[in-house]
Amino acid sequence: MCGIVGYKGKRKACNILLECIKTLEYRGYDSVGIATLANDQFQIKKDIGKIDEVHNKLNFLTLQGNLGVAHTRWSTHGGVTQINAHPHLSQDKKVAVVHNGIVENYQELKHELEKHGIKFISQTDTEIFPQYISYSMKQGKSFKDAVHETLLRVEGSYAIVAVNVSGEMIVARNGSPLVLGIGKDEIFAASDVPAFLEHTNKVVYLDDEEYAVLDLGNVVDSSKNYEVYNVKTNKKIKKEIKTITWTLEQAKKGNYPHFMLKEITEQKETIKKAIEQDHELIAKVTDAIKNAHGVFFVGCGTSYHACVSASYIFAHVAKRHVNVVLASEFRNHENFLKKETLVVAVSQSGETADLLDAVKTAKAHGCKTIAIVNVMGSTLTRLCDTSVMMNSGPEICVLSTKSYTSQLALLLLFAYSSAGRLEDGKKIINSACKHVDKVIDVGLEKLKPLAEKLHKQHDFFLIGRDLAYPSALEGALKIKEVSYIHAEGFAGAELKHGTIALIEKGVPCIALITKSTRKLILSNAMEVKARNGYIIGVSDENNEVFDYFIQVPAAGDADPILMIIPLQILAYYLALAKGLDVDKPRNLAKSVVVR
Ligand code: AGP
Ligand code: GLU
Repeated sequence: MCGIVGYKGKRKACNILLECIKTLEYRGYDSVGIATLANDQFQIKKDIGKIDEVHNKLNFLTLQGNLGVAHTRWSTHGGVTQINAHPHLSQDKKVAVVHNGIVENYQELKHELEKHGIKFISQTDTEIFPQYISYSMKQGKSFKDAVHETLLRVEGSYAIVAVNVSGEMIVARNGSPLVLGIGKDEIFAASDVPAFLEHTNKVVYLDDEEYAVLDLGNVVDSSKNYEVYNVKTNKKIKKEIKTITWTLEQAKKGNYPHFMLKEITEQKETIKKAIEQDHELIAKVTDAIKNAHGVFFVGCGTSYHACVSASYIFAHVAKRHVNVVLASEFRNHENFLKKETLVVAVSQSGETADLLDAVKTAKAHGCKTIAIVNVMGSTLTRLCDTSVMMNSGPEICVLSTKSYTSQLALLLLFAYSSAGRLEDGKKIINSACKHVDKVIDVGLEKLKPLAEKLHKQHDFFLIGRDLAYPSALEGALKIKEVSYIHAEGFAGAELKHGTIALIEKGVPCIALITKSTRKLILSNAMEVKARNGYIIGVSDENNEVFDYFIQVPAAGDADPILMIIPLQILAYYLALAKGLDVDKPRNLAKSVVVR
């Protein structure tokens, strides 16, 4: 996944592009580049490394002109090299493009263009765009028609900003996010709203298979300065301008050293906010669940763990079996899908490719679809029949933290509403929320020394039963992602079926304990202790088997909401103790838009 930006206006483009692309660095950060247009020529600077590193080396702020594009890369095709960094230019240097996505038929198109004498200089799939557009213009097409022809030829996913040396700018999307920011005397295009939110909160979301011509001309009112077309029909489409209600403050780090810490702390508010939902919407979702013949919860990574957690609550509270399937495996369940089936797609970003594919599979079978999602205007919200917004505010750190607890709260609410006990569900969540401040504050105060003691360990094991089992999976994911320490979560009884062989002196094992699972999970912890493991208990009460005790108040069915918080904090401190980049762990990206 990459971050892309385009700017056209009256101000110096390089400052704005640099600032915009920095807010998108969470989307990818192996290389960065900016191209601007001045005196009918592109000025371009790009290199491998994070934005600040490359800026320190190249100084983007010397680029001239009022129009340009910027890119922060997470490579899919072609190694991490200077030449593969975006923007990419056509051979005649008349077209520049930034791209997020994958051109699946790039080899075929490349061979076709090579036969016409066009030489490619990078190993990326992206270079197809500028080369094809320029080739098509040489055949007499206008820039707009050339871009359109290219979009018709390209297979795969893209969000692109394409510019030519005459200052024309065209953007397009299919399968990767892209949003226009409509300012006064200026227009922005970016992968995500926070990129330009400081300049405008008026946005136009492009849908898949749409492209937009951004032409400011001399008109002052920028809302008249773009035209959106459908790629297939080439017909003009009327798009609504939406106003973003969240502030840039919410998207910025504020006084926090890292977004991860800010977002963990924000759980003091976000969990409560998640359940402030419109009553009609709750009723609609509840009816859909109750009337469905077969319910599937699908998600990836953390969102999948929220689905696993939900399956326990639905079983206990609503006495309802729900299928929980990893989005990437969903197609294997195709034979069980019919129009009465309900598919609930859970996602922070709403852009995860595996999940979008799952929803497309569901729709192809006529299933009903509901999204539980954080990002407004994301592809998922447009694919699903109904969307429930998590309202957590922007989550920038690559690790999901506040979005997870919001997902848990919403799913718990729907389990209770499906049992006709909505108010009980709200009460349980609200009482858990009363403890969130303390759990966060105590965790922040106490877990640093523990992390400093344990950060050199090679493995962590986490065990939990019942509702605490998905918490063990999620806790392990948090530790792995950010601290690069191997961690595995298990249903308590499973450890003895093999993995206990790995326990030796001092190996940390985190036991997650709920009231109803206490006895059994303590026996599992004893088994580890007997092999000299180091037991960290997360529980409402201490026990002699613990070498270290993290107190978390009992919250009944809301236990998973509280018990994940110290694990998020521990993971954060482990990464800090190892001196790692907390917000941007290696090899990861915030939304995984590849399959
Ligand atoms: C969470 O910390 C991960 N970075 C990742 O597993 C994530 O939850 C997964 O990629 C799904 O993302 P989504 O919620 O945006 O769909
Ligand atoms: N495929 C392009 C590249 O590797 C863009 C990558 C992406 O969007 O993830 O440069």
